[in-house]
Amino acid sequence: MTSTTQTVEETIKPHGGQLINRQVEGNEKEQLIEAAQTFPKITLNPWSISDLELIAIGGFSPLTGFLGQKDYESVVDNLRLENGLVWSIPITLPVTEEEADELEIGDDVALYGEDGHLYGVIKLEEKYTYDKAKEAQNVYGTTEVDHPGVKRVYEKGNVYLAGPIQLVARPKHDEFNDFHLDPTETRALFKELGWKTVVGFQTRNPVHRAHEYIQKIALESVDGLLLNPLVGETKSDDIPADIRMESYQVILKHYFPEDRARLVIYPAAMRYAGPREAILHALVRKNYGCTHFIVGRDHAGVGDYYGTYEAQELITQYEDEIDINIFKFEHAFYCTICENMTTAKTCPHDKSNHVHLSGTKVREKLRNGEQLPKEFSRPEVAEVLIRGLKEN
Ligand code: ADX
Repeated sequence: MTSTTQTVEETIKPHGGQLINRQVEGNEKEQLIEAAQTFPKITLNPWSISDLELIAIGGFSPLTGFLGQKDYESVVDNLRLENGLVWSIPITLPVTEEEADELEIGDDVALYGEDGHLYGVIKLEEKYTYDKAKEAQNVYGTTEVDHPGVKRVYEKGNVYLAGPIQLVARPKHDEFNDFHLDPTETRALFKELGWKTVVGFQTRNPVHRAHEYIQKIALESVDGLLLNPLVGETKSDDIPADIRMESYQVILKHYFPEDRARLVIYPAAMRYAGPREAILHALVRKNYGCTHFIVGRDHAGVGDYYGTYEAQELITQYEDEIDINIFKFEHAFYCTICENMTTAKTCPHDKSNHVHLSGTKVREKLRNGEQLPKEFSRPEVAEVLIRGLKEN
C-alpha cells in the first residue's frame, strides 16, 4: 500500500487521467443508428459485447476502442500500452479472416449482438493477425487448452479489428438494473454517501465467510465497500450470476451496516488470467472510483495454473504505478479452536482444525440441497444458493 491514502474526491484519478465516455446520446445517437443501417456489419459474441460496454462506460479507461497492433503487442509483451501506461490484458475484437476480408480500413462497421440488436460502431483503423500461442503463454501463463481463457484464445477468429468505438445501446442486464451503475455514477454515489475511501471487491462466487472476513477487515480501515461482482460470461460450472446477485443482497442485508456497503455489477467476462487479471481488476475499480482493492488468495485463478499468491506478487511490482491501494490477504478459513475466521498469520493451530471446502464440494452439496457448514457460509446465503440451483 502507498503511504498516503487517496480519497475519491481529491486524488483518485481514472487510469490515464480521464474517464472515457463513448456512449452516444440524443440526436447524434439517432443519426448514428440510422447511418449504421448502411454500414458493413459484424456480430459480436457476449464476451466482446461486454468489452464494448466497458470501454464505452469508462470502466476500461483510458481505452477508447479495441487495441491496435502496437498497443496489443506492448500489452502482451510488457504489460503496458505503447505509451508506457500499465495495462495487463489485451482488449481486442476478434473476427474470422473471411469477415475481415469484407472490411476496408476507414470503414465504420456496425457492431451487432447475437440477439440481433445494434450496440455500437467501430471506426476501423487496423486489422491484424496475432500469435495465439504467445498471447496464451504471456497473458495466461500456459498454452494448455484446458485453461478456459486459453481455450477462448484458440477458439476465436484469427484477425483482430482495431479502432475507436461508439456505443448506441446498453447491453441489457435486466434483472440487475438496480445495481447497474457506470463509473461516473459510482463516483457520484460515493460522494453522496460521504465515502472518502472505498475498497472494491471483485468476485465471481457467492460471498462466503472468507470473503466476508477480508471485506470486513478492509472495511475497518476505509469508509465503504463496493461489492462489485463480475456478471459477464463465466465458465459453465461457476454459479450463475442471477443466483449470486440474490445471495449478495442477502448477505449485505443481514451482515453489513446499510451505510457502509453497496452492490454494483461489473459487467465483464471472466478471463481466469490470474495475476494479470488481478491488475486489470484493480485498474477497473480505480476507474469506478475505488481508492483500495482487495487481492486475496489465487485471485482470478482457475485449477492449479497459478501459485496461491502469484497475483499479489505481480501486482506488487506495479503498485506504485497503478495508483490504487492494494489490500493483500492470505488464505482465510475458519478455525474450530480459535472459533473464528483467521489465516496462517494469526492462527497457531493445526490444519486439521480448519474448515476447508473446495468449490467442487460446495457445488455438489448445494445441488444436493444440503446446507453448508455455518463456518463456511452464512445460512441465509446457502439457502438462496440451494433454492437457486434447484430452480436452475
Ligand atoms: S475471483 O474473481 O478472484 O476469481 P473469487 O470469488 O474466488 O473470485 O475471490 C474473490 C476475492 O476473494 C479474490 O481477491 C480472492 O483472492 C479472494 N479470496 C477468495 N477466497 C479466499 C480465501 N479463502 N482467503 C483469502 N482470500 C480469498
